[in-house]
Amino acid sequence: MKIILVGATGAVGKAALDALAPRHEIIAVGRSSGDLQVDIEDLDSLRTMYRNVGKVDAVVSAIGHGYFGAVEGMTVEQFMQGINYKLLPQINLVLEGFEYLNDGGSFTLTSGVLNRDPIPGGAAAAAANGALDGFVRGASIEMPRGIRINSVSPEVLEVSRQKYAGFFPGHVHVSNEAVGLAYSKAVEGCLTGQVFTVDFG
Ligand SMILES: NC(=O)c1ccc[n+]([C@@H]2O[C@H](COP(=O)([O-])OP(=O)(O)OC[C@H]3O[C@@H](n4cnc5c(N)ncnc54)[C@H](OP(=O)(O)O)[C@@H]3O)[C@@H](O)[C@H]2O)c1
Repeated sequence: MKIILVGATGAVGKAALDALAPRHEIIAVGRSSGDLQVDIEDLDSLRTMYRNVGKVDAVVSAIGHGYFGAVEGMTVEQFMQGINYKLLPQINLVLEGFEYLNDGGSFTLTSGVLNRDPIPGGAAAAAANGALDGFVRGASIEMPRGIRINSVSPEVLEVSRQKYAGFFPGHVHVSNEAVGLAYSKAVEGCLTGQVFTVDFG
């Protein structure tokens, strides 16, 4: 398969890359890294990416960031970071991607653990995750041409242990291999409308 993988050099994207690259042609996309430099927060940049790459069999996204902080005192602008920088760019990848996805192709988005196992300061991120998973379930029933759509929702990755030290008390850390398998299932399997949680492994 020919696969666009946005965020391929990140912690999560690298896990997906390692799982898929041995069997597929991967176009690694990053804002400043990878085979193609694209800012998927920018619609023009995203559209140019699709025009330049052309038809693909799968689009995988492993990007997104947002605000971490207490609900009390959170501003609308802070809350909207997760919507603008995690939710919308990934949904735009889908909305703008239909004409470039071959029949029977797939979209795979990335959410995360916080909407099922919250931490203090994680409400804005939880909202973005929940919206992503909800979009996937809702959109899956009207995907055209046999196209599938799923999300991968990992626990904190082992490789990100230092980055999030102290923020996820009691949470387990999951391996690259376990996370990679979820992307493999999403891209190479047959299921649609699923949230593939990675809570162990
Ligand atoms: N790490 C974890 O433990 C974990 C667990 C659960 C869920 N998640 C979720 O997984 C997603 C990725 O997290 P991560 O930890 O892998 O992040 P990361 O290590 O910071 O990597 C982010 C990747 O996305 C690319 N990227 C960022 N903004 C972009 C943009 N506007 N356009 C194109 N590419 C862009 C980066 O490319 P450049 O470096 O070139 O900018 C990089 O390849 C996030 O939504 C996060 O919430 C992460």
